[in-house]
Amino acid sequence: MADDLDAAKRAAARFAVERYVRPGARLALGTGSTAAHAVRALRERYPREAFDCVASSKATEALAREVGLPVRPLRADDRFDVMLDGADEVSPALDLTKGGGGALLREKLLARLSERLVVLVDPTKLVGALGERAAVPVEVVPFARPVLARELERAGFAVALRARTDGAPFTTDNGNEILDLRPARPIADPSRTDRELRDRTGVVETGLFVGLADRVVVGSARGDAEERVRGRDRG
Ligand code: A5P
Repeated sequence: MADDLDAAKRAAARFAVERYVRPGARLALGTGSTAAHAVRALRERYPREAFDCVASSKATEALAREVGLPVRPLRADDRFDVMLDGADEVSPALDLTKGGGGALLREKLLARLSERLVVLVDPTKLVGALGERAAVPVEVVPFARPVLARELERAGFAVALRARTDGAPFTTDNGNEILDLRPARPIADPSRTDRELRDRTGVVETGLFVGLADRVVVGSARGDAEERVRGRDRG
């Protein structure tokens, strides 16, 4: 099963690199096991090409350097042709839950700066509604976290502080913590839930990506892939 999922992620990554990446492209690199397949697929497909890349996490930056893909810091006027990234859930409207890898803030910022967000998933990520399968991660300022955790529980979420394997709180690349929220029922209006969460003092960003994905590539364990397309590209 794990091998099948990995094969499906790899198939999605190869398909997306072939279809959406052109030599010399300005690329935003996502985070997670599927995004890692995309980084490796880029190098396999274009062994010597010098892409202009910005990574959404220290982990992806390290992997890109390892395969010889140059990565640079984000600049004020940056725009990217394509962002390749994974997701934890994809709804029929192509809204996403992201942040299982803890990189949601940088991922969302880079997605907003990209002409096209291409999301790569295995079939288990497709859901009827967000919150059905995955928790919704919320990046919070550590000082505010105890208060926010209580407020969010009172608002009806089951709240878990994300922890490292040694039990200490997981810390994002931005020095913040993550609360993983389980809604009582799947999220009917992700845009509204995103806004309500972000309105709380101490919340930095949420893992609800609404209206950002243009294409979702679903890989299969057989090695092929099919894609889902949003109605129109963002301007
Ligand atoms: C990283 O913060 C996440 O948004 C990932 O894109 C998401 O968790 C999917 O991860 P996998 O590709 O490892 O399933």
